[in-house]
Amino acid sequence: MFAFSAALAALLVSTVTATPHIIRQSTGPSATRSCLSLRDGSCNATNIDKSNIWNNTDCVLYAVCTYPTENPSYVPIEYGASTNQPRLTESTFKILSGGKDTMTQQAFIDAYYGAISNIPNGTYPDSSADVIQEWANVAAWTGDCSTMEIPYSNFADWLEYSSNAGVCPAVSNCDASKAVGPAEQCVPQPSTDNGSCAEIKNQCQLWVTGGLFQNLYCVLASMCYAESTTDILIAQEYPSYVSNIPTSASEARLSYDVFSNITKGASTMSEQNVIDAYYGALTGTWISTGGPFGAESPEKTSNNGPYPTSTAYVSNFWSIIAAWTGYCDTKEIPYSNLADYLNHAATSNYHPTC
Ligand SMILES: *[C@@H]1O[C@H](CO)[C@@H](O)[C@H](O)[C@H]1NC(C)=O
Ligand SMILES: *[C@@H]1O[C@H](CO)[C@@H](O)[C@H](O)[C@H]1NC(C)=O
Ligand SMILES: *[C@@H]1O[C@H](CO)[C@@H](O)[C@H](O)[C@H]1NC(C)=O
Ligand SMILES: *[C@@H]1O[C@H](CO)[C@@H](O)[C@H](O)[C@H]1NC(C)=O
Ligand SMILES: *[C@@H]1O[C@H](CO)[C@@H](O)[C@H](O)[C@H]1NC(C)=O
Repeated sequence: MFAFSAALAALLVSTVTATPHIIRQSTGPSATRSCLSLRDGSCNATNIDKSNIWNNTDCVLYAVCTYPTENPSYVPIEYGASTNQPRLTESTFKILSGGKDTMTQQAFIDAYYGAISNIPNGTYPDSSADVIQEWANVAAWTGDCSTMEIPYSNFADWLEYSSNAGVCPAVSNCDASKAVGPAEQCVPQPSTDNGSCAEIKNQCQLWVTGGLFQNLYCVLASMCYAESTTDILIAQEYPSYVSNIPTSASEARLSYDVFSNITKGASTMSEQNVIDAYYGALTGTWISTGGPFGAESPEKTSNNGPYPTSTAYVSNFWSIIAAWTGYCDTKEIPYSNLADYLNHAATSNYHPTC
């Protein structure tokens, strides 16, 4: 057993390869091994307080180094603890940040190497560049790329919320040249979505080559992507090998039959129409029984859902569309306004709310 002081560990940042105490394994990137060694430190099953995991600084560091391969909730899940953990306190944060209410990149490096130094047979990463990358992954989520200095509340938000579906990073990568394309982009969704929009999107894929706005499921998918855009929806429906992927502006205008189907023949579409159509589309969902993209054989099943946890989910996306079309007061949208929204909202750079 041995332990370095944190200060000594910081000095070792560039010289760790010369340190005889460090166990090197023959496989796997050193960054992964160093990350896993935090579990052999105090973030281990016998030592952690399962009802307050983020009170353990090694567990906080472990959450950082496993991200974004894993989300922070991976840590409580790994130990069979509730994912509903108490929020990281400022005092625990300050143990890592060197007493400050923001954490600099250097403070994180020091905290990381300091933690490894306290772990018997802990593995250092080969390079501090690995640790800097880990920090940059969190800074991208919190939107602190320009300073790489993360305030306490942003960091605590990352631990608390980044695992939730539909909660998206501020930017996908601090290095803009490595930012993900539209096909991989995170789609923001309220928690009431409950995976329903992804199911509508999956059903739309069976018919999308016939025109995004010519099919009931694809029109509903375009609506539930209101917090994102229809261009991102198209990028996520089409495999990248397809040439000439359409854009929302190039898609044929909304089918009047689909519009009338949702309105049950009325000349305007109401919030209740959309709620009925959305829930209807999740009842007896379609799957492909084979065939390549664009030539699938859709088959209706008796599977239902997942439904939103509340119709407020539908009201929310409908109100975004109502704001864009200028119908906040009634939420009753005429055909031509809805058709304009579908073709042009994605590129309009206009994001009003009701
Ligand atoms: C768990 O952490 C505690 C506190 O750091 C340590 O004393 C103990 O040796 C660790 N146990 C294991 C199995 O790593
Ligand atoms: C958090 O950890 C510290 C240090 O290990 C301990 O003194 C404190 O009681 C813990 N706080 C809670 C709320 O468990
Ligand atoms: C550290 O590694 C050495 C050499 O492999 C081994 O003998 C020792 O038991 C290890 N110590 C711990 C605490 O795992
Ligand atoms: C709307 O379309 C769905 C799916 O194609 C169909 O089952 C339903 O009968 C249609 N409803 C109306 C009112 O046309
Ligand atoms: C939310 O989704 C889960 C799993 O997909 C499902 O079991 C649950 O019934 C859904 N909630 C509602 C209200 O349908």
